[in-house]
Amino acid sequence: MARSTLFRAVLALAAAALAAGAEGARGRAGASRLLAWRGGRTEKVAVIGSGNWGSAIAKIVGQNVLDKPGFDKEVRMYVYQEKVNGRDLTEIINTEHENVKYLKGVKFTENVVACADVGEAAAGATLLIFVTPHQFLGSLCKPIKGRCARGARACSLIKGIEFDANGPVLISDIIKKKMGGMDVSVLMGANVANEVARDEFCESTVGYRKEANGRAWQRVFDCPTFRVSKIKDVAGVELCGALKNVVALGAGFCDGLGLGGNTKAAIIRVGLGETIQFCKMFYGGIKDQTFLESCGVADLVTTCFGGRNRKCAEAFAKAGGKSGWDKIEKEMLNGQKLQGTITAQDVAKVLRKKGVAHKFPLLSKIHQIAFEGAPVTDIVKF
Ligand SMILES: NC(=O)c1ccc[n+]([C@@H]2O[C@H](COP(=O)([O-])OP(=O)(O)OC[C@H]3O[C@@H](n4cnc5c(N)ncnc54)[C@H](O)[C@@H]3O)[C@@H](O)[C@H]2O)c1
Repeated sequence: MARSTLFRAVLALAAAALAAGAEGARGRAGASRLLAWRGGRTEKVAVIGSGNWGSAIAKIVGQNVLDKPGFDKEVRMYVYQEKVNGRDLTEIINTEHENVKYLKGVKFTENVVACADVGEAAAGATLLIFVTPHQFLGSLCKPIKGRCARGARACSLIKGIEFDANGPVLISDIIKKKMGGMDVSVLMGANVANEVARDEFCESTVGYRKEANGRAWQRVFDCPTFRVSKIKDVAGVELCGALKNVVALGAGFCDGLGLGGNTKAAIIRVGLGETIQFCKMFYGGIKDQTFLESCGVADLVTTCFGGRNRKCAEAFAKAGGKSGWDKIEKEMLNGQKLQGTITAQDVAKVLRKKGVAHKFPLLSKIHQIAFEGAPVTDIVKF
């Protein structure tokens, strides 16, 4: 996309947002009505995953099901079992109500129950929150499918992307397929887990296909410090969440090189433009408004200033591109997983296969620096 075209597109998006307003923003005045429980069946929520974000969201959901009518008061959380100081992590969580490995210093409400067996965690659940790093998703769906309630719906908080011969494949579509056609919404936003867990105010976005399910998920997540809007655009919301981790690598390279705010702002601006272009090139029904929601520009900004992808890319740049990503991840993240590097590779494969890499100079350059030995200083040559 030519730079002048890109600039015009961003301006047009901003103007459209001001004119139209998001569903969440427009509806905020009527939020209590929107979020009011309309009766019906009792919902049982399960959280599949318990890393840094999985634990932060379990804290919010655990409190919300206690505060709002219409929910089973127990929230089961699948925990990949590991030993911490010789004890099972599940046992620590269920006695101390804290995930001491992935979210130290933050307490769950006591209704959050850790289960090492994913089938047991999902048993009877009507609402399934998928929040594992996407490389671990594959083996988890089958045991869940056999145990969750009939008619259960899912929401993916997983940031990533896969691809097949036709182009990119959404993680939400993978879940939908593995779960026998289950409706899958997504939740993405400017939500660095540790800040959310400390109840620092932020916003987030539910992307939905079915209005009723969008509403149901908004009720599950929304609380005074975690404001959730919704928009009927699963692909746009999800792709923003995936691609921002790649752009954040570029921002981290800038930090490692000691470049200032102007340069990072340029990376963010061009990254947003390429994100919009990617979404519209591969999916129909993408809404311009999506890019101005928390899942769009806000998540991109926060990830380029904080977050693990930026941090690890800074370390990579400071090591002159000579330190491997696995080593950096191991040394800096204490068991947490880097997503931007996997996504950068998947995006590059899609773009090359489709012969459109030249239309995405920043995303392509980030991949070349991260995986093909291009000098880190090339981050400003795109
Ligand atoms: N952390 C954030 O601030 C944040 C915010 C929004 C979205 N996300 C996204 O949420 C998703 C989950 O990230 P996270 O931060 O909760 O996780 P994490 O990277 O903090 O932790 C890794 C998790 O994977 C588990 N694990 C390790 N090996 C496993 C295996 N073989 N099988 C199953 N699980 C295994 C670990 O026990 C741990 O729970 C990712 O897609 C991430 O991009 C993260």
